Formats: sequence, structure tokens, C-alpha cells
Amino acid sequence: MADQKRPISVLRNLWPYIKPYRMRLFAALAALLVTTAINASIGQGLRVVIDQGLIAQSLEVLNQALIIMVAVVVVLAVATYLRFYWVTSLGEYVTADIRRSVFRHLVTLHPSYFEENRSGEIMSRLTTDTTLLQSIIGSSVSFALRSFLTMLVGIVMLLITNIKLTAIVLLSVPIVLLPIIIYGKRVRELSKSSQDRIADVGTYAGEIIQQMKVVQSYHRQDFENQAFNTEVDAALDVAKARIRQRAALIAVAISLSFIAIGFMVWIGGRDVMTGAMSGGELAAFLFYAVMVAMGVASISEIIGELQRAAGATERLMELLAVESDIQSPQAPLAPNFNAPTHVSFDQVNFSYPSRPNEKALNALTLAIARNETVALVGPSGAGKSTLFELLLRFYDPQQGSIAINQVDVREQSLADIRQHIALVPQQPVLFSADVWHNIRYGNPNASDEQVLAAAKAANAHEFIERLPEGYGSYLGENGVRLSGGQKQRIVIARAILANPELLLLDEATSALDAQSEHLVQQALEKLMQGRTTIIIAHRLATVKNVDRILLLQDGELKAQGSHNELMQSSELYAKLASLQFNEQATPEKPDLDQKVVANSSI
Ligand SMILES: Nc1ncnc2c1ncn2[C@@H]1O[C@H](COP(=O)(O)OP(=O)(O)O)[C@@H](O)[C@H]1O
Ligand SMILES: [Mg+2]
Repeated sequence: MADQKRPISVLRNLWPYIKPYRMRLFAALAALLVTTAINASIGQGLRVVIDQGLIAQSLEVLNQALIIMVAVVVVLAVATYLRFYWVTSLGEYVTADIRRSVFRHLVTLHPSYFEENRSGEIMSRLTTDTTLLQSIIGSSVSFALRSFLTMLVGIVMLLITNIKLTAIVLLSVPIVLLPIIIYGKRVRELSKSSQDRIADVGTYAGEIIQQMKVVQSYHRQDFENQAFNTEVDAALDVAKARIRQRAALIAVAISLSFIAIGFMVWIGGRDVMTGAMSGGELAAFLFYAVMVAMGVASISEIIGELQRAAGATERLMELLAVESDIQSPQAPLAPNFNAPTHVSFDQVNFSYPSRPNEKALNALTLAIARNETVALVGPSGAGKSTLFELLLRFYDPQQGSIAINQVDVREQSLADIRQHIALVPQQPVLFSADVWHNIRYGNPNASDEQVLAAAKAANAHEFIERLPEGYGSYLGENGVRLSGGQKQRIVIARAILANPELLLLDEATSALDAQSEHLVQQALEKLMQGRTTIIIAHRLATVKNVDRILLLQDGELKAQGSHNELMQSSELYAKLASLQFNEQATPEKPDLDQKVVANSSI
């Protein structure tokens, strides 16, 4: 995907990123002019040395020529250093800025964007595409300019030196270059598919590395080796074909160039013999002819590069052009933090964008008072977690409205909504950093003492202390170094530290053993006081103490009331509850009951 051809004009979109560094760009161009002028003057120097030094046998001219040459080389070296430095650093600065703005944009996008687009794809834009731009802005563009200038200057100098020979060169250059350009295109295509194959090898290895325990537990190492070999062989085959083509290309290019030079020497030599041209002129002429030919050859190469850069630019611009579906309104309304109704849903219909025909919530209407504790129960897939996602405004409903503090969430700023909510999700999410970082994610300004207090309240302090480096222990990618229950307690500590007005607990204690659950439960009960809490609960113990239970099924609110009321009024609730009682009645079969519990979140 990294190499689709695009019109080079797409590169215009890069100008806003280059503009802040335009002084650097102009300085590089100035240095480029200097180096090109010097290159051009070398041909003239050659002519003087041959005609007035060698042929006139003047040692003095030869000495002078050497001194001038040394001086010119020093200037050339300085100008080359500056050109290279300015252009390459320009590429680095511009790429860094593009990376920053892509990332800044990514974190504002609506969550469903990340469901519709593979993370590997997005990552490759941020890394591969920007790296491609970096190498192209930082070198190819300067190379292209240099080649172009060299070619122009070379042609002018050719004309000044000898018009008849110039005509021959201008006719023969295309004849020599045409096969090289056509062949070069094939080599480029092969090199693209070679890169794709190498990407396949990387993807394959990446997946196996991530799933190493599954591979080894099924003892599939030999099978994976075989499969990986196939991938590597495919990449090797494409690479071999490309190298063969490339080698042939180089051979053809070298032969054609030398034949052309020989032809010119032959024609020019005859002019030198008849006295129509001096030896020095011929030497200078050959010098410029080679200069022009190299310029033309590299331009044809660079056009391919620029097309790749255009592809990368277009993909980055596409990504930057994606508008978030979820945005703060222009003029947000201030929420009223004393409103008696904290949360309300009014006739909410909602389908996930990826499943437009399936209603995750169906005409859902409910209201939750400030400081009330409410439990959501219902079978798996009922829409309980979805309700939380809508409260955080990760999605907007297709119909109906959701209000927090009696103001529609679409009329409040996202910051106002989310700053006052803490979610403990069904799957705990940890960052690959230490415990401090992970708990403090709930409140970056919290003191160490506050972090410790939150960890203690979440019953996490003891096990954290026992980690090799305590709170400074690195937890690994998504907390691989912790058990499920430990992860959950860290995430609960994070929510405690955030001290939200509205606390959303999504089966927050499901991965805990009975003993830690009891402890965390007590902590949560303290935490729930003085704030509004919605718990998606999977154990009866949690449900019994709440103010009200809402029973959801198929995205609809089926019944609500206290435990006892629901036992009377709802057949579904009674059924779900009886499964729970069975669990408590038959503790000797915990495995079986775990599964039942997982399927009926009550
Ligand atoms: N990101 C998603 N994209 C598409 N469908 C989803 C997504 N998340 C959940 N669903 C579907 O929406 C319905 C409700 O899911 P959910 O709210 O997670 O149920 P639960 O009550 O178990 O928490 C289910 O049918 C589920 O498959
Ligand atoms: Mg759920």
C-alpha cells in the first residue's frame, strides 16, 4: 500500500509544513546555486589547464590552476556541507511536525474510527509514510533540484563550448536514456513488490511473537517455521528478480554511456585534428556532456521517488482530513452541577456504526438521580456496556437524547462531560509504564500520598508493595506482568483517584477472587457515597445494596425496582437470580458456575 502512484502536485500540500522553515530552504537553495556554479566552472578550468597549460607547456599556468583548484574545492566543500545540513534537517523538522499534527489529530477522532481502520494501517501512516517523506524531502528533493540545475547549466555550457556537438548530444541523450528509463521503471515496480513481501514477513513474525505462548503450548514451532520459511522465500524470490533486472540495467546504462562518449570523442577528435576546436574545449565539452547525462538520469529516477512521496502525502492528508464525528459544540452550555437528575436517557435508539441494522439500545428511557446508586443487570449482549459508552459520548445515538446534569451531552463540551466521569471498564487497560503512572492516569496532579491512599482503598496496596520495585515496577504491555484481578484493582485505584461525580463500574470486580472481591466491594461502597454510581454487576451481593436495579434485555429496559420487587415482578430477573442462588448453593462446582455467571451478568 505504500507506493501507489499519485500526481506529484499532491506534494503542494506539504507547503504549510515547510513554510515555517523557508529560511532554511532558501539558504539551502543558495548553497545549491554555489555548488552548481562551481561544478560548472570546473569544466572551464579543465579547458584552461589543457589549452594554456599542457598544450602551451606552461608550468606557471599549471601551478596557478592547482592553487585556484584548491581554493575552489574548499568553497565547494563548505557549500556542500551547508546544503546537505540545511536540506536534511529541513526534512527532519518537517517530518517531526507532520508526525505531531497527525498524532494530535488522531487523539481527537471518534472511537469508531479506530474500529473501522486497522491500527497497523494507522501506525504505518504515522511511521512508514512520514519516514518516506523525511527521506524524500531531506534528500530526493535536493537531489532533484541539483540534477535539474546541473542539467540546465550543463546544456548552457555545452552551447557556449560547441554548438555542433551540442546538437548531437541533445539528440543522442534521449536515445541513450529511453531504454534506461523504461528499464528503470520495471526495476522500481519490482522493488515495490519486494518491499511489500518484506512487510508480509514482518507482519507474520509480529503475530507469532505476540502469540508465542499459544504457539508453544500447541507445540506448533515446526509448523510456524515452515510457514515463515515460505514467506521469507517469497520475499527472496522477488528480491532476486529485482537484483537481476537492476544488474542488467546498470550494465546497459554503462555500455550506452560509454558508447555515446566514444562517439563524441570520435566526432570532437576530428574537429581537434582539423583545428576547428582545441583539445581543452573537447575535454570541457565531454565534462559537460557527462554532467547533463547524469542530471537527466537522476531526474528520471527521482520522478519515481516523488510519486511515492505523493502517495505518502496523500495518505497523511486523508488522515488529517478525517473529521471527528464527536466534537464539542461551538458554544457549549455549562452543566448545572446541582441538577437533581444526574443522568437521563430519553427514547434513545442506538446501533453501532459497524452494525447499522442491529439496535444495541432500543427506545431506552431512564433517569438517575444525583447521588443515586443504580445497578444495571441483564444477559450478556443486553446493551449495558453500550449505555456507558454513550454516556461518555464515544458515540451519538441515532434517535433520542442523553442528558447529564439535565443538559444534552451534545450541547456540552467533551471536557465538561468526561472530566466528571470515571469508567472502570470490563477489560482493564494498563499502559506499559510503572504503577505510579498507571494510577496517576486518573489525576495527573495527585500527590504520592493520594496515589497510595487510592491504592489502599482499591485493596491494591499490598500486592503492589510486593512487586519487585513496588510502585516503580514496570507492568509490561497492557500489564502482562499482573494477574487479571491485580489489573482490575489498579484500574479501580485510578478511578478512585479521579474522584468523579459519576462513577461507572463495568463488571469491575469480575476477575477478582471471592476474598479480594469482598475487600474491593467494601472499598467501592465507601467510594459510592456522595456520588452517582452506575454498576454493571455480576454478583448478587453488589446488587442487593443499591438504591435501584435496572433490568436490560436486547437494548430495552424491561423492569426496574429493588431486588425484592423485581423477584416478584420480573420473570427474567427471577431466572437470572436463581442462577446466582444456585451458584451460592453449590460452591463445590465453581468452574461451571463461573461460566454461568459470565453469561448472565447479574
Ligand atoms: N464496538 C461494537 N461494534 C459493534 N457492535 C458492538 C460493539 N460493542 C458491542 N456491540 C454489540 O452491541 C450489543 C450490546 O453489547 P454490550 O453493550 O457490550 O452488551 P453487555 O450488556 O454485555 O455489556 C451486543 O450485541 C454486541 O455484540
Ligand atoms: Mg458489557
